[in-house]
Amino acid sequence: MKYYYNIINNVIKFFKFCILIYFKMYFIPVMRNLLPAKNGEEYTMQFLLEVVDILTNYVRKTFDRSTKVLDFHHPHQLLEGMEGFNLELCDQPESLEQILVDCRDTLKYGVRTGHPRFFNQLSSGLDIIGLAGEWLTSTANTNMFTYEIAPVFVLMEQLTLKKMREIIGWPNGEGDGIFSPGGAISNMYSVMVARYKHYPEVKIKGMAAAPRLVLFTSEHSHYSIKKASAVLGFGTENLILLKTDERGRVIPADLEAKVIDAKQKGFMPVFVNATAGSTVYGAFDPINEIADICEKYNIWLHVDGAWGGGLLMSRKHRHKLNGVERANSVTWNPHKMMGVPLQCSAILVREKGLLQGCNSMCAGYLFQPDKQYDVTYDTGDKAIQCGRHVDIFKFWLMWKSKGTIGFEKHIDRCLELSEYLYHKIKNREGYEMVFQGEPQHTNVCFWYIPPSLRLLPDGEEKRQRLHKVSRYSQSLLLSLPKLLVCD
Ligand SMILES: *Cc1c(COP(=O)(O)O)cnc(C)c1O
Ligand SMILES: *[C@@H]1O[C@H](CO)[C@@H](O)[C@H](O)[C@H]1NC(C)=O
Repeated sequence: MKYYYNIINNVIKFFKFCILIYFKMYFIPVMRNLLPAKNGEEYTMQFLLEVVDILTNYVRKTFDRSTKVLDFHHPHQLLEGMEGFNLELCDQPESLEQILVDCRDTLKYGVRTGHPRFFNQLSSGLDIIGLAGEWLTSTANTNMFTYEIAPVFVLMEQLTLKKMREIIGWPNGEGDGIFSPGGAISNMYSVMVARYKHYPEVKIKGMAAAPRLVLFTSEHSHYSIKKASAVLGFGTENLILLKTDERGRVIPADLEAKVIDAKQKGFMPVFVNATAGSTVYGAFDPINEIADICEKYNIWLHVDGAWGGGLLMSRKHRHKLNGVERANSVTWNPHKMMGVPLQCSAILVREKGLLQGCNSMCAGYLFQPDKQYDVTYDTGDKAIQCGRHVDIFKFWLMWKSKGTIGFEKHIDRCLELSEYLYHKIKNREGYEMVFQGEPQHTNVCFWYIPPSLRLLPDGEEKRQRLHKVSRYSQSLLLSLPKLLVCD
């Protein structure tokens, strides 16, 4: 009986296989059969279902610890072309079958950033709701510049920004803001708006209309402020670096001394950047003390919470940002600590109208003032971009699905884990913490000291050799693709 059963089973399998082949040959022809082609519906559905199949398979494997994080290949290998996968663009159209192979291979040679063992810089994990949001966003394929063309998304953005401002602690969530293509750009907005607040005439007359303006940031600052000072015409020489303590937090007394010194030289301090969660140490500057100095000298206070802003969602950890409500502007990247898919970053400004004043050009073809709806919802002119990607939907959808409480749990859990790691490493032989004391954020900074270096006295030689160790372990890890970490 079993024997016959097996034969029948195999025959059925064979038929299924034939049907599949037929189906594929029949249903996977070339591009021109897809919508909007006449009768293209079926081909289109079939093609998209195949794509979804590839994507969902990828997602499934991403969460499987036994799969590789990365199948690493050197640039020349990928450029030369892997089996069946060629990056070169060609003059003739490829078959849809090949297009599907291209999709599959693109994922195959990439990095699974959602893998549980992916520990590279700052954004990781794959949030399923966020992913769905991103899919929906690309399907809607619209542009954030006017209400006219993105009514739902524009309202979502306004609402979410208001909620974020409430969480920062600005009364009634009043103020302004916009989603930008990342923390570096959000930070640049803050410098622009600060300059506009103090010297609005720069918008028209250029920097010659202002005295020599100086900016302040921590010596641990992310390089984006330096870039902003170059891009915006301040010059990197006019960016003054502030001393930090052993944990990487700005020393307020150093700020005051440098402000006074700059003023004596006839320079005009306009902008102080405090950090809530520095990129490498995870340090939180003492915002209240810095705010006191900024208020005293009438300087714009920006809080860069690109990395640490997420902690505002946690009742347990938000005290690390105490004083953030005194900032004039805040950068907050939901695409980092809160696990929203890339990219999703907000610049929030306490005073309403500055973003608009600073950036608006009133292009007649987009922003006609006499439209049939409330044109204050045409937020596009606040941006330095023209078209703007819809970054809001996936974040809004995640917020809906988790609730504020879900983000809080996520943050609390991540910080709990970093505390656990810290305690595991602190007293372990061969490991040394970069600084003493519990980490403030999820950055747990340590050195691995191989036995040959353990007896070496602290100093330049040891430092350099340690650096080599971390480089070496990184290259080792690349060839051991079960883990991807940052050094
Ligand atoms: C990551 C980071 C930035 C830059 O953010 P992007 O979204 O990568 O542009 C700025 N500041 C801090 C503190 C960061 O950690
Ligand atoms: C502020 O400092 C932080 C890190 O200390 C840095 O990431 C950020 O780029 C700086 N931003 C601005 C606008 O100064």
